[in-house]
Amino acid sequence: FEEGQNKNKLYSYHDTYQNQLTFPLMLAVGTAVIGSLQFGYNTGVINAPQKIIEAFYNETWNDRYKDNIQKTTMTTLWSLSVAIFSVGGIIGSFSVGLFVNRFGRRNSMLMANVLAFIAAALMGFSKMGASWEMLITGRFVVGLYSGLSTGFVPMYVGEVAPTALRGALGTLHQLGIVIGILMAQVHMYSGRFLLFTALLPRESVFISVNKCFHVPLVLKKLRGMTDVSADMQEMKEESRQMMREKKVTIPELFRSPLYRQPIAIAIMLQLSQQLSGINAVFYYSTKIFEKAGVQQPVYATIGAGVVNTAFTVVSLFVVERVGRRSLHLLGLLGMAGSAVLMTIALALLEKYDWMSYMSIVAIFAFVAFFEIGPGPIPWFIVAELFSQGPRPSAFAVAGFSNWTANFIVGMCFQYVEELCGPYVFIIFTIFLLCFFVFTYFKVPETKGRTFDEISAGFRQTASGAEKHSPEELNSLGADSQL
Ligand code: GLC
Repeated sequence: FEEGQNKNKLYSYHDTYQNQLTFPLMLAVGTAVIGSLQFGYNTGVINAPQKIIEAFYNETWNDRYKDNIQKTTMTTLWSLSVAIFSVGGIIGSFSVGLFVNRFGRRNSMLMANVLAFIAAALMGFSKMGASWEMLITGRFVVGLYSGLSTGFVPMYVGEVAPTALRGALGTLHQLGIVIGILMAQVHMYSGRFLLFTALLPRESVFISVNKCFHVPLVLKKLRGMTDVSADMQEMKEESRQMMREKKVTIPELFRSPLYRQPIAIAIMLQLSQQLSGINAVFYYSTKIFEKAGVQQPVYATIGAGVVNTAFTVVSLFVVERVGRRSLHLLGLLGMAGSAVLMTIALALLEKYDWMSYMSIVAIFAFVAFFEIGPGPIPWFIVAELFSQGPRPSAFAVAGFSNWTANFIVGMCFQYVEELCGPYVFIIFTIFLLCFFVFTYFKVPETKGRTFDEISAGFRQTASGAEKHSPEELNSLGADSQL
């Protein structure tokens, strides 16, 4: 009874202080999401300076072989420069668990920064070195870095965030990405192509990372209070759980019935993000607008970037009130509606001139609904769906699914578009509706629930479906819950 009373005291104390957004917490999170900014920049820069880069390739080719580059070779080199980023992303994201389990969250982030420097050097000096090989390798390396970041950042942010702010702070990862995309779009407009992308203030990152990232030591700062005993208590409890909770490998994640539901949800949400067709817009928007007869396609593209950023901010403010599940559902449905609108606009373009305006409205709405839910939520929900033991492997699997789907859409969209013409967005509509149904039936609300409560929920479902051996449950840290 006494223990229960203490626990109650602890919780009320927690409710009062734990959810404060302090400056050091913001600094820690802000530092982490610089990685997201890099990812966004390198996503947005893809369809930008094609002509400039092709001219550079031709020049280099000419210098070396005293001949003009063949058209097919150019297409291959260009496609390679675009796609190799996602290949790096696939490999990077899949390695997240290896790094995190070995070196920890903070050190892994620090180490990944080395890749950003290497990529910056390769791309930045490619012109001086008259080498397209350097540029392509640089894109691969920055892809590796981005893949790692899409695991490290949401995992770290999810873990340092107080429960009631986990969604809002988790959305900052996506906000970093969309600001990065917008920066790239604006550079594209100004005609300057910044290959030095990776040269963001990394030094300051190193310093602040070193200062802020040891969570238990700076807890006082992060929480902004002098008495952090309640937090310490919870951390001790968590680290006790962690000792008990053995690290779960990727094959184990799929074998154990305990994780079957959360991993299916994590994968499906990643797929819902990418197969929604969002990157068809971000890689090819200028072309889409051109086809839709928009006079100034570049402005429309920047407009899409602005809408994208604005609605990520909206999501940030409402996610803790409305919840993940409802926002994701709303986002998917809204995107499906916008995709239909887009199809109508493209199909009737010949008949009515004003359809080109409708296509702008449709794309803006598509992007806005994306950022309400399907943009930010899949990234941070992985941290919420898994406890410490399986979390790194879960991030690796989720990231791998995301990047692979991203790669497929990026590679195939142009060809499928040639085949289907104005009806290409119907394919995304079908995907969106399927993911809506899945989310409606399978995805639980995670808002305001602690990691423990969420995994206990899944354990209950799993133990309802199947019986486990006591050793199995024990090794997964489930003993106290059952
Ligand atoms: C998400 C996606 C990314 C996409 C971006 C658009 O972060 O993962 O692929 O480009 O949103 O805002």
